[in-house]
Amino acid sequence: MEKTTLIKEGKAKRLYNTDEEGYVWVEYMDQATAFNGKRKDHIVGKGVLNNNIDTLLFTMLADNGIHTDFVKKISDNEQINKEVTIIPLETVVRNAASGSFQRKFATPYLQKFDKPVVEFFYKSDELDDPFINTNQAIALGIIKPGESEKLQEFALKINTLLKARFEKAGLELVDFKVEFGKTADGEIILADEISPDSCRLVDLKTRESFDKDVFRKQTGDLVTVYQEVLDRLNNSQEEA
Ligand code: C5P
Repeated sequence: MEKTTLIKEGKAKRLYNTDEEGYVWVEYMDQATAFNGKRKDHIVGKGVLNNNIDTLLFTMLADNGIHTDFVKKISDNEQINKEVTIIPLETVVRNAASGSFQRKFATPYLQKFDKPVVEFFYKSDELDDPFINTNQAIALGIIKPGESEKLQEFALKINTLLKARFEKAGLELVDFKVEFGKTADGEIILADEISPDSCRLVDLKTRESFDKDVFRKQTGDLVTVYQEVLDRLNNSQEEA
């Protein structure tokens, strides 16, 4: 398979068409952004780390019955995905309070929830990805009636699997964001990426951050903590 024309350059990935119908070529870039792209840095090694972490997590999810767009890793920083139409919603699942939830409701940092909280944000750079509820998403034609429940159920299943996998690696999954896409025959599948760019992870014992918060808050070296996440996942692979 060969890559052909560039479809889109996002904040951390480039997406290309391929010479085979139904597949896209994804290139993970050495770039980190924060505050909806307002801060942008070149970070050598980040693309390779996220490609490896994403491959490991999407493979684990697929092995557990989650339908995803992941096909195969083809180089250190590239993979092939199924072509999907992305539903323009960022689906966030939270197990504990942090980030925008903590800011909005002034809750203590990492306060645990009895049940995971699912939230939707409308994917729009111009509007700064605003919070959106089910009725608003239906009114805007982003989803059809009934799909919100499906997406929430799907996201919660992913949460259960990810949470258990990270726990084996000594990490608590605080929250994460996923995106879903529709295949040509209308099936909704997990798409985009799961990496420390899109998850909040803290050490089970020390509560140190092992995710993009170290870049957002400038409290640590991104490559060092992402490498630690990958190493911990690899080292706990056998027992997983
Ligand atoms: O900022 P907020 O607390 O709403 O983020 C919740 C989760 O979603 C975090 O893990 C964050 O990394 C992720 N997220 C993301 N992309 C965005 C916004 C949030 O991956 N555009």
